Amino acid sequence: MIQDIESVLVSAEEIDRITSRIADEINRDYAESNKKLVLICILKGSLMFTSELMKKITLPAEIEFMKVSSYGAKTTSSGVINIHLDIKRDDLAEVDFLIIEDIVDSGRTLSHLTRYLAERGAASVKTCTLLDKPDRRTVDFTPDYCGAVIPDRFVVGFGLDYNEKYRNLPFVGILKPEVWGGR
Ligand code: IMP
Ligand code: MG
Repeated sequence: MIQDIESVLVSAEEIDRITSRIADEINRDYAESNKKLVLICILKGSLMFTSELMKKITLPAEIEFMKVSSYGAKTTSSGVINIHLDIKRDDLAEVDFLIIEDIVDSGRTLSHLTRYLAERGAASVKTCTLLDKPDRRTVDFTPDYCGAVIPDRFVVGFGLDYNEKYRNLPFVGILKPEVWGGR
């Protein structure tokens, strides 16, 4: 895999510092809440980020999984996405949801999911992303917690894939454009 990587963008050590910093923020921000803190791992990309982050959250937290896919760039920028795996619980009014994503690109996925869970009656919905590519935004969306703002390059590793590959790299790297035929 390593020969397909142009350069390391976020090292394993940096990721460790990022998860510590964000977990501290979460531990502080939710300390006074009387609701249930429920982390939502967005499959598959945020698997590693969620597991590293949750180890450092000292508040009692539950975990749920959702699997979603974007309709793609050709559809409207209304934030419509496919939900392949949904949350089945009937206590949403008692829940502070924290959605955990690998990367925010257009912003469609998280802006749609935030609205969807809020409309279902969640007590609160916040978002946490390892990476943010603000240059690529097509909808107005800002994550509540962000690990690192990165340039508009295609990245893989630490959960992020290209054609389902590279997820198991322990760092985030820039994929050589010739591997995927892009910028
Ligand atoms: P969006 O913010 O709705 O456009 O979608 C974000 C999703 O696009 C992420 O969860 C990833 O699955 C995918 N994505 C965006 N940029 C990258 C990248 O650089 N590498 C790998 N996946 C990416
Ligand atoms: Mg993803």
